[in-house]
Amino acid sequence: MQFKTYVFDAYGTLFDVHSAVRKYADTLGPDGQRLSEIWRTKQLEYSWIRTLMGSYTDFWRLTEEALDYAFGVVPGVDKSCRDKLLEAYWTLDCYPEVPEILAKLRESGAHVAILSNGSSDMLAAAVESAHLGGLFDAVLSVDAIKTFKTAPDVYRMVTDTFAIAPAEVSFQSSNRWDIAGAHKFGFHTVWINRAGLPNEYQNYGPAREIGNLTEL
Ligand code: 2OP
Repeated sequence: MQFKTYVFDAYGTLFDVHSAVRKYADTLGPDGQRLSEIWRTKQLEYSWIRTLMGSYTDFWRLTEEALDYAFGVVPGVDKSCRDKLLEAYWTLDCYPEVPEILAKLRESGAHVAILSNGSSDMLAAAVESAHLGGLFDAVLSVDAIKTFKTAPDVYRMVTDTFAIAPAEVSFQSSNRWDIAGAHKFGFHTVWINRAGLPNEYQNYGPAREIGNLTEL
């Protein structure tokens, strides 16, 4: 089925959030993977709690706070990597299939966009370093409305930008919680289940589940 507009989550969907830690795997040692998991989990938790509290702070600050917490709970890793890890977050690897899939969608005449919790400058840097510039009709950051996913106002940024109905949007995310929010808003949802995780958020999507974007 062809949609007018394909919207992608950024972190975990287009960009590999664990590539920062992988870059310094030798220095970080055997607990590096655990550090990376806690870093990501806490970054997301902070976004949800701040949304519930009505106390927005941009995603970069949450990323720093989450890494500092992760270092606190994984004492075995070398803390001297802190600044390098944060720097690496600006230039995360994109998943290998991403450039070709985005280019094909645009060639088909569809609009292609990012909708992300990331701040505008984080997203601009990630897009540029992954050589994805020119492949998006819009890169939408929640920073414009100062609330995080899964608030409906975030998904509304897409329908406002493209002046279309929710059902005309195919929304891709590797984050199951993000798929739930997008489904509730009315998007057609595609869960990119890269990690082969069990389904959750019953009754809130997805319309489709695939392992990576090549199946889109
Ligand atoms: C996003 O890019 C945090 O992965 C989430 O919005």
